[in-house]
Amino acid sequence: MTAPRFRHDGIAFGCDYNPEQWDPSVWPEDIASMREAGVDLVAINIFGWSQVEPRPGEYDFEALDSIIELLHAGGIRIDLGTATSSPPPWLSTLHPEILPVAEDGTTRFPGGRQAWCPSSPVFRERALALVEQIAGRYGQHPGLELWHVSNELGCHNALCYCDTSTAAFRGWLERKYGTLDALNRAWGTTFWSQRYGAWNEILTPRLTLSTRNPGQLLDFHRFSSDELLDHFRAERDMIRRHSDLPVTTNFMVEAHIRNLDYWRWADEMDVICNDHYLDHRLGDPIRELAFSADVSRGLAGGDPWLLLEQSTGAVNWQPINHAKAPGELTRNSLTHVARGADAVCFFQWRASQQGAEKFHSALLPHAGTESAVWREVVELGGLIDRIGEVAGSRVVADVALMFSWDSNWAADSEMRPTHEVTVLDQVLAVYGALHSLGITVDVIAPGADLSGYRLVVVPGLYSVTDQDAAALDDWVSNGGSALITFFSGIADEDDRVRLGGYPGAFRDLLGVRVEEFAPLAARVTAGLASGATATVWTERMTATTATVIDTWVDGPSAGMPAVTRNDRGAGAGWYVSTMLDAEAMRATVLRAAVDAGVTVEPKHPSELELIRRSNGDASWLFAINHGATPVTVDARGEELVTGVSIAGAFEVAGGAVAIVREVVQ
Ligand code: GLA
Repeated sequence: MTAPRFRHDGIAFGCDYNPEQWDPSVWPEDIASMREAGVDLVAINIFGWSQVEPRPGEYDFEALDSIIELLHAGGIRIDLGTATSSPPPWLSTLHPEILPVAEDGTTRFPGGRQAWCPSSPVFRERALALVEQIAGRYGQHPGLELWHVSNELGCHNALCYCDTSTAAFRGWLERKYGTLDALNRAWGTTFWSQRYGAWNEILTPRLTLSTRNPGQLLDFHRFSSDELLDHFRAERDMIRRHSDLPVTTNFMVEAHIRNLDYWRWADEMDVICNDHYLDHRLGDPIRELAFSADVSRGLAGGDPWLLLEQSTGAVNWQPINHAKAPGELTRNSLTHVARGADAVCFFQWRASQQGAEKFHSALLPHAGTESAVWREVVELGGLIDRIGEVAGSRVVADVALMFSWDSNWAADSEMRPTHEVTVLDQVLAVYGALHSLGITVDVIAPGADLSGYRLVVVPGLYSVTDQDAAALDDWVSNGGSALITFFSGIADEDDRVRLGGYPGAFRDLLGVRVEEFAPLAARVTAGLASGATATVWTERMTATTATVIDTWVDGPSAGMPAVTRNDRGAGAGWYVSTMLDAEAMRATVLRAAVDAGVTVEPKHPSELELIRRSNGDASWLFAINHGATPVTVDARGEELVTGVSIAGAFEVAGGAVAIVREVVQ
């Protein structure tokens, strides 16, 4: 059976709608205001379990029936939740064994949300019974457009260490390795007297006195991601018995959320959905937003995807929750659309008066419709409606960035050369340089098809299989260019270090040999011959066949190469063995991109995002100016925000966006 496709008229504009919080007399008012704002897709019943099943096996659909009818009558399409994200109190009272257990062995109690063990058969059975009821009741309802399984699976409960999870982990390991000998080899258990002689000796990696076995931790991450994916599949298969609409769940491709290997999940989704919130704990939240959008498009294989949640203003879960500046909501939303989103949705419709999220922004704030947020929401809804023609089109990129959750788990392990850097720091540094140059990037998994790209950047890809390393090397040898950064190609998929000099998997591709890592102390900078500075990492390297581009003048690797370029067959392998300062990183990436034949404007203003979507017949150029001063963009066609014709150079004001339907030459 071919997967059902998500179909919506134009680009969807919507939100989570939690009407249970309000008196039913408010609901018709909500629908009227939604229409005013142009809301045409809402996610409901996301946290509805305790309403629709107030007592075990007793269902009450009265309120949900009314909400569905009201939305449908109002012409608002429905993304129907399966309501299984948070079990009701009666379930954990009846079955406390469903509660998750943390790595220190303590139980996580109900009273928050998502308090369930991903491997619990009791939870699964109860959840599927509920899904059967919901899918059976609404599966053929004409108001539905999409099924929303659970909510942000793994947001809080990704890693459970209870006895049920432990038994499931053993089963997963047995299926993976077949024999204990194979498992012992993979985990290197001869070290520190960890050899297992029976399956039941193996535990989930609960807290230990010292560092835990890295192989065990890595497999536990893989297992945990697989367990939740299995839960998704079970709910989806239940829905399929009653409905042929697309089924999805909302991913969390976000800086600090790293527990699921979404490359393994992506194929199971009928449409890829992401939730994204600006993270002000990061140096540059806008770049991370763009990266998240590009990852979402990568997961969708280049097809359009849906932004199911973002915020109109502040969230409530960061240490300081920043409001958005005027225009920021529009710029951020358009960044997602420019990068392939066919939906712009929010958490949540009406700001809560009570409960954990009462200080989280919403489309309709506590202040009501007499507010700047509401006015910008209405304006944005109008704009999203006007650019509906963009829906279905794709983004074209000739640069790719290789990214792997699996490798990241191994890289950011408990004991590593320095805790001053994470993979994500490396990823965002290289991505930031590309972004500041206005170079559009596809995010791909190791082993992905590289034909069609001119340059592939590989930031901190610590572990890689022989096969994926060989595929990259072959592609480079046949004329591609790769730019690889430090702590890449170090280990195989079992986290076994590759011997003979780092970076084992890419030594020949890069024409370098590293004998030793020599990280820098916190906040210490070392200098390079070019005048660039670098932080965090140095390594004691010799160039075997590579040309040295830059050399350390001081620091622990003084006199040794820091940046190199290697002719590899018909292509080139660039190596950046440290965390260059932002300017030097931009210059190095620019040099590699030009060398690879990527079209790039060296003077591209770093605050400007310039991205093209096209569908073969037409193309749209998105210009998003995150800066305060005007930038000049060159385009021809109709500008859809203002409706003005553009014939060449035009100005995009500080903080403004422009979307030009380009004239085909
Ligand atoms: C997540 C959840 C929502 C809400 C938002 C708040 O994305 O899916 O239910 O809690 O966070 O930012």
